[in-house]
Amino acid sequence: MATDTPKTIVSIVGLDKTYNGGHHALKSVDLEIYRGEIFALLGPNGAGKTTLIGIVCGLVRATGGTVIADGHDIAHDYRAARAKIGLVPQELSTDMFETVWHSVNYSRGLFGKPRDHAHVEQVLRDLSLWEKRNSKIGALSGGMKRRVLIAKALSHEPTILFLDEPTAGVHVELRRDMWEMVRALRDRGVTIILTTHYIEEAEEMADRIGVIDGGKIILIEEKHALMQKLGRTRVTIGLNERLDVIPPALADERLALADDGRSLVLTLMGEDDGATGAADLIKRLSAEGVEFRSIDTARSSLEDIFVDLVEKRP
Ligand SMILES: Nc1ncnc2c1ncn2[C@@H]1O[C@H](COP(=O)(O)OP(=O)(O)O)[C@@H](O)[C@H]1O
Ligand SMILES: [Mg+2]
Repeated sequence: MATDTPKTIVSIVGLDKTYNGGHHALKSVDLEIYRGEIFALLGPNGAGKTTLIGIVCGLVRATGGTVIADGHDIAHDYRAARAKIGLVPQELSTDMFETVWHSVNYSRGLFGKPRDHAHVEQVLRDLSLWEKRNSKIGALSGGMKRRVLIAKALSHEPTILFLDEPTAGVHVELRRDMWEMVRALRDRGVTIILTTHYIEEAEEMADRIGVIDGGKIILIEEKHALMQKLGRTRVTIGLNERLDVIPPALADERLALADDGRSLVLTLMGEDDGATGAADLIKRLSAEGVEFRSIDTARSSLEDIFVDLVEKRP
C-alpha cells in the first residue's frame, strides 16, 4: 500500500528555552524541515543554534513548545524519535583509543539495532574512512575525526542528520571535501540540518536557509529566492574624467558618485540582473557626452545580504 509521506520531516512549534539562571536562549521558535533537503541554520555565536539541536536530540529540555521528528513527538515518544536522528556534535569528543570500526559498530548497538557490518562498511566507504577502519581514532587528523563522528551518527540508519558547525576548525581546503560528503549523504536520502556561522557554507550547501539571532528565527527562505529578493546588483562605471556632481539629466536615486568622482555606481535591487539597467545608463551617459572606460557588474553575495539583515535589526 502506498501512503503519502509527508513533506515535513521535522516540525518545531513554539519552542522555548530558558536556561537555569534565566538566560532566554530560544524564543518561541517555529521551524519546519522538509524531507530530503539540506537546511542551514545560520546565526552568530550565541544565537541559540546548539540549544535548538540539543532539544531536538533530547540533550536539553525545552521550557515550552513541541517537536515532531519523522512522526514522533520527542517528549512523548522519545526513543522512537531519537532513533530517527543522527547527531554530529559541535565538540569533537569521542573515544580516542578505540578503532574506527569498533566505535561505529558500538554506536549502532546503543540504539538497539542488530549488527549490520554491510551497513557500517557502506557508511565508512561513503565517508572515505574504509581504509582507516582499523586505525585508532586518536591517531586520525581533525577532519577524519569529524568524519568518524558522522559515521557514528549514521550507524543506526537515521533519516535526519544534524551537523552542528561541521566545518568549525576544519581547514579551509578540507571544507570543500566535507561539503561534498554532506551532499552525497543527502543524495542517499538523508535529510540534513546543519548549523553554521560561516555564510559561505550556507550559500554553498543549503536548499533553504534559516537565520537565527538572539534566540529568534528572523528569516526562513529558499536560498535562491533569498538571493533574488534581497540581492543587489551593482553596476560600476569607470569614468574618463572626474565628475563633481551627477549631471542633472542622469539624476536617479539608484545612482551614486564614488571614488572621488571617478566612477558612477548604479545599485539595482531584487531580481533585476543589471543588464537592462546598465544598458539604459550607458545610453544616457552617451547622450550627455560623459565618457567612460570600464563597466563592472557585481551581484551581492549572501554575506552582503546577511550583514544588511543583521544591521537593520534594532
Ligand atoms: N547550559 C547552559 N546554561 C546557561 N546558558 C547557556 C547554556 N548553554 C548555552 N547557553 C547560552 O545560551 C545562548 C545560546 O547558546 P548556543 O545555543 O550554544 O548558541 P550557538 O550554538 O548559536 O552559538 C548563549 O548565550 C549561551 O551562553
Ligand atoms: Mg553552537
